Amino acid sequence: MSECVIELKSICKSYGEVRAVNDISLTVNKGEVFGIIGANGAGKSTTMEIMMGLRKPDAGSVNILGFDLKDEPSEIKQRIGIQLQKTALYDRIKVKEALQLFSSYYKKTRDQKEIINMLGLEPYLNKYVKNLSGGWQQRTSLALALINDPEIIFLDEPTTGLDPEARRELWACINRYREEGKTILLSTHYMDEAQRHCDRIAIIKKGELVACDKPEVLVSTLNIADGTMEDVYMQMAVGS
Ligand SMILES: Nc1ncnc2c1ncn2[C@@H]1O[C@H](COP(=O)(O)OP(=O)(O)OP(=O)(O)O)[C@@H](O)[C@H]1O
Ligand SMILES: [Mg+2]
Repeated sequence: MSECVIELKSICKSYGEVRAVNDISLTVNKGEVFGIIGANGAGKSTTMEIMMGLRKPDAGSVNILGFDLKDEPSEIKQRIGIQLQKTALYDRIKVKEALQLFSSYYKKTRDQKEIINMLGLEPYLNKYVKNLSGGWQQRTSLALALINDPEIIFLDEPTTGLDPEARRELWACINRYREEGKTILLSTHYMDEAQRHCDRIAIIKKGELVACDKPEVLVSTLNIADGTMEDVYMQMAVGS
């Protein structure tokens, strides 16, 4: 039996009239690379931010690593890593300062040198984060997400805006992390990488979970020759 590390039960979240998340339940197992896909505004970031404890759901429960998020938010925070879609944190801070600052938040930290090597950040340590190109900012924020050696990492569109080489390298890092038995939950708009790298994929449409399965199973439900995740997306995630 695989060990469940994330369990969402009937999560709902509205912003005024907008139902951003409507009754989503799902589980993620230890060691999985779990993808969330869906159109702009479908509710991916809201769902992820609820799991990370950054937004409070209107209804439903979140269990992370066996703890109820409502009861044990600080225990959970120590054990997860977070990369947000938008990071506005670093205005006048250098890469190495950001790493030091983040490691001061946690009881347990991973060797900073190892993370710096893994992400190739050495030449950028003395640069201001805001002056880095988008791809290097992404890598810096992945480094920050790894600083506490988390058991689960949440990555909201980690590869958006990266050049093909940087994207490939980022996936190599994610896969290396998974080989250590860690769990990765991420959102992406790139169907090729979802198909290639994710063990299971949740499709969210207008705040609802419309499918959740292995990419090959999702593709096989299409009943078309040489179907891809892009075909799955067009059929399940788009339209009214
Ligand atoms: N703080 C907020 N206040 C009001 N509405 C919000 C807020 N955050 C999100 N929304 C709305 O909730 C819905 C879901 O947004 P969310 O950011 O979760 O979507 P997403 O799937 O992550 O989209 P994208 O692919 O563009 O990142 C959208 O209609 C959005 O406008
Ligand atoms: Mg988003």
